[in-house]
Amino acid sequence: MKAWSGRFLKETAAIMDDFHSSIHFDYQLAQEDIEGSMAHAEMLGACGIITPEEAECIREGLSRIRERVMAGEIQWDPSAEDIHLNIEKLLIQEIGDLGKKLHTARSRNDQVALDVRLYLRREIHAILDLLKQLFETLLETAERESKTIMPGYTHLQRAQPVLLAHHLLAYFQMFRRDYDRLNECLNRVNVSPLGAGALAGTGFPIDRRRVAAALQMDGVCQNSLDAVSDRDFVAEFNFIASLIMMHLSRFCEELVLWSSAEFGFVEMDDSFSTGSSIMPQKKNPDVAELIRGKTGRVYGNLMAILTVMKGLPLAYNKDMQEDKEALFDSVKTVKGCLTIFIPMLQTLKFNRGKMLSATEDGFLNATDLADYLVVKGIPFREAHAIVGRLVRYGIETGKKLEELTLEEMQTFCASIDSTVYPVLRMERVVDVRRSEGGTAFEQVRKQLDDAREWLLAEKGSE
Ligand code: ARG
Repeated sequence: MKAWSGRFLKETAAIMDDFHSSIHFDYQLAQEDIEGSMAHAEMLGACGIITPEEAECIREGLSRIRERVMAGEIQWDPSAEDIHLNIEKLLIQEIGDLGKKLHTARSRNDQVALDVRLYLRREIHAILDLLKQLFETLLETAERESKTIMPGYTHLQRAQPVLLAHHLLAYFQMFRRDYDRLNECLNRVNVSPLGAGALAGTGFPIDRRRVAAALQMDGVCQNSLDAVSDRDFVAEFNFIASLIMMHLSRFCEELVLWSSAEFGFVEMDDSFSTGSSIMPQKKNPDVAELIRGKTGRVYGNLMAILTVMKGLPLAYNKDMQEDKEALFDSVKTVKGCLTIFIPMLQTLKFNRGKMLSATEDGFLNATDLADYLVVKGIPFREAHAIVGRLVRYGIETGKKLEELTLEEMQTFCASIDSTVYPVLRMERVVDVRRSEGGTAFEQVRKQLDDAREWLLAEKGSE
């Protein structure tokens, strides 16, 4: 019999049960549902809505059910619809009619909102931990590659040389912002909707703040209608998850490119590569490709929640049950991708020689020659044109700028003298870019030290 069957004359059709039941995915909220119910029961007892003895008995029953859930002993009942009614049913089996008092002053509408918030709070902490491991790996790798020079690109055309560490630290900054966003999102996730009831609050003398405090939440939702109809925090999380995936995906795209013979900048460890069923020579960067591919499903999950919510009148609507599968999928995908990306990055081999030699073709020191002429008193726009002509001459004669003789250079600009050659050396080209946040050795050192210091403080504050 259904928990709500009183006003009905007929049973629901079997096909209806299948259609609206959510237990096949919301069983994942079992821990949170029990945790929330235990806090609710304690509050009902403390406020005299049930007796403290009854509250204690309910809590003990719930705690036994929690053990059975953790031991994997529970067979969920699809006819009991969802996790909330499944647990209530188990409680009544466990402690008898007293179990029927648990749902006093509560609705599944505020209950489910609470469960999702508690679930997301836990998962955000798990993702923050993974991000910290990623930071550690990025910093170790950047430290190891703090002297490695590689081409920096714009339009995927070689532009100016940069340090590989500088490139890696760019990703550190992106993920650092995601880390901050997740922490800010927690402020909005970690508030209790419980006590909103179905939509309007309750006539029982409940203490919402007591429940929130017992669940280590930072406060209570201020408006009961909003409390049960708000899924902003799900959308917000999905957006942050999308950004994390976007950042991972860009990194992965680079690794796919860099591991091709055309670049040859990196070699993936065998343990994170796959072969071909037909071509014996193949070694494919599947991890990076899969992460890039899985980004699509997380974006899809963001679109899904935004679209589910866009036309909903206040307050709860069953449409909102559709928030969960997409959310669970985003959580699973982000965690799974970070978990494999970290060891893949740790085991990656950078081909320093290839990276350096790639800076030697393509006139990556052309800007430095122009800057040299500026120091000689030539306005930048003119210097740019002179060097442009020198580059053209280099292309036609098959020579690099540093291979041109002084006489050749002087036919383009009389101000050039022999002090030009050291200016054109790649190491120097890197090292002069000492503007704050630039690629010079000392600036990258500073970035590394700052990042390390931040990470240490962040770990210390745990
Ligand atoms: N399974 C439902 C959900 O996920 C729980 C809330 C049901 N509320 C209701 N009034 N039918 O949204």
